[in-house]
Amino acid sequence: MIQACIFDLDGVIVDTAVYHYKAWKKLARELEFDFTEEQNEKLKGISRMRSLQLILEWGGVDKTPLEQQELATRKNDWYVAMINGMTPQDILPGVETFLQQARAAGLRTGLGSASKNAGLILERTGLLHLFDAIVDGNTVTASKPDPEVFLQCARLLNITPAHCVVFEDAIAGIAAAKAAGMKAIGIGDPITLQDADEVIPGLDHMSIEKLKA
Ligand code: BG6
Ligand code: MG
Repeated sequence: MIQACIFDLDGVIVDTAVYHYKAWKKLARELEFDFTEEQNEKLKGISRMRSLQLILEWGGVDKTPLEQQELATRKNDWYVAMINGMTPQDILPGVETFLQQARAAGLRTGLGSASKNAGLILERTGLLHLFDAIVDGNTVTASKPDPEVFLQCARLLNITPAHCVVFEDAIAGIAAAKAAGMKAIGIGDPITLQDADEVIPGLDHMSIEKLKA
């Protein structure tokens, strides 16, 4: 029986992929190569440093670890400037209703995100109070598809992994949920997320009745 819902942030609760894309594209342009939307898709669920390394590889550019740190900081400063302007209006459809329903039904709610900016986004969108536990890029050492983020979250919620369901939009996130021994509901394209137990277009297509069924 499901006792906890664990949510990814970017692409599930809010649509921040577009901000990540703009910031990475600006960086790529400064380094004099292009960065496409298709490439951005491949970075979903992937940590900031790993994303940068992939982008540099795609652009055929070599940078020292120190230079990589500086580039990642630069990208993040632009990204933070964009998410600082987020408001509750940026919450994806159905998210608040489903979180409230889940809590009213006695389920625990957690966040399992690769982002180091998760706290800021939840604060700006006014969603912090709807989560019993938050595990993000500041606390995990191994990023998705490693199950660490979801296992840490289940531990904080005090619920065994088999009783948790994860909502994820990234292939790496679905793999992480399955590796944690949890149910995985994909948000997005059923072909891309074929390893999920079920795929829905968004949380506005989910309800407690559906979850129980
Ligand atoms: C994930 C996003 O949620 O967080 C990735 O899907 C992003 O695209 C990662 O790279 C890390 O985010 P941040 O905010 O720490 O740079
Ligand atoms: Mg995501």
